[in-house]
Amino acid sequence: MVTGKEPERSQRRGRKRRLRSPAKTLPEPPEARFSRYREMIPEFSAFCRSLYAALPTHLRVNTLKASTTENRLRLERRGLSLALVVQTDLVLRAASLPQPGTPVEYALSLFHPQALSSVVTALAVAPAPDHLLLDLCTSPGSKTSLLAQLMKNRGVVVANDSSSSRLATLTANLKRLGVTNTVVTCYSGQQFPLHGRFHRVFVDVPCSTEGTLRAGVHGTIPATIRPRPGLVALQRALLLRAFDLLEPGGMLVYSTCTYDPQENEGAIQFLLEQRLARIQPIVLDFPHSPGLTRWQETLYDPSIQHCWRIYPHQLDTVRFFLARVTRDV
Ligand SMILES: C[S@@+](CC[C@H](N)C(=O)[O-])C[C@H]1O[C@@H](n2cnc3c(N)ncnc32)[C@H](O)[C@@H]1O
Repeated sequence: MVTGKEPERSQRRGRKRRLRSPAKTLPEPPEARFSRYREMIPEFSAFCRSLYAALPTHLRVNTLKASTTENRLRLERRGLSLALVVQTDLVLRAASLPQPGTPVEYALSLFHPQALSSVVTALAVAPAPDHLLLDLCTSPGSKTSLLAQLMKNRGVVVANDSSSSRLATLTANLKRLGVTNTVVTCYSGQQFPLHGRFHRVFVDVPCSTEGTLRAGVHGTIPATIRPRPGLVALQRALLLRAFDLLEPGGMLVYSTCTYDPQENEGAIQFLLEQRLARIQPIVLDFPHSPGLTRWQETLYDPSIQHCWRIYPHQLDTVRFFLARVTRDV
């Protein structure tokens, strides 16, 4: 593992700050929490209802080990009721599997429990087997391992995260899933060395995680969000560095799991103002809403409508924002 020294110091500072400022429990139900998004989210009442529906269990098939059909047959022989998610042949939806780590097929790493929106995000990166790919904020590695799988364990994935403790989970996941084309680094992403350029950069930034406020498989809504000062500036610095690490003709995917336009369209607008970047349509077939071109008093570049907002009442999963950006020169 390549280890930068600076990230370790900044993490220690981060840990101290969190100890002084404990998590705040939301004083209101999610509907009230999100009321400022009433005009932004289509069918707001349906959206609010969807937050109370238990999150379905999705199993991403590990095609490095077995085919989807083989997985399905094995799990159905155990009495599980499964449905294939129609837009991709990689994901099975389990009707009732609250503890997806229990079937022996999990230990055999034939599948990985993964939110459907997380799979969609990795599919949007669309790496080719011969690519050099950088995953700038990688841990715990659900998407990284899927990216390696899409590359058929060929090419090279550089999996980076500033948290060495979280990288331990990543390496365990990569090992369990049989990923062999990945090297692990530990830099602050915004200071990732500019020595080389990548065909693809994936930047799944730390965010305010509003999109995870949804009933879990056990039916309760987690109602805790930690305040994170400096988050928007960090996201923008990570996005700029991600862009600067692209080779000409390369493509990056920026993603968050939050509703906040400042962390989504705001970050992309910032990139467009700083660099010669182009927003590209996402050529996948999943229900979504377009990126915003206006939020309150702020106007965004019209091309930002090509970004995706995935809401839980449109696609039965947790919320995600996705942007696909290319660099011409
Ligand atoms: C949303 S999570 C990434 C999830 C991951 N892509 C996955 O699918 O499993 C954000 C990650 O960013 C990491 N992170 C936070 N600040 C960072 C920084 N400055 N540079 C690189 N990584 C950072 C966190 O440790 C965390 O693992």
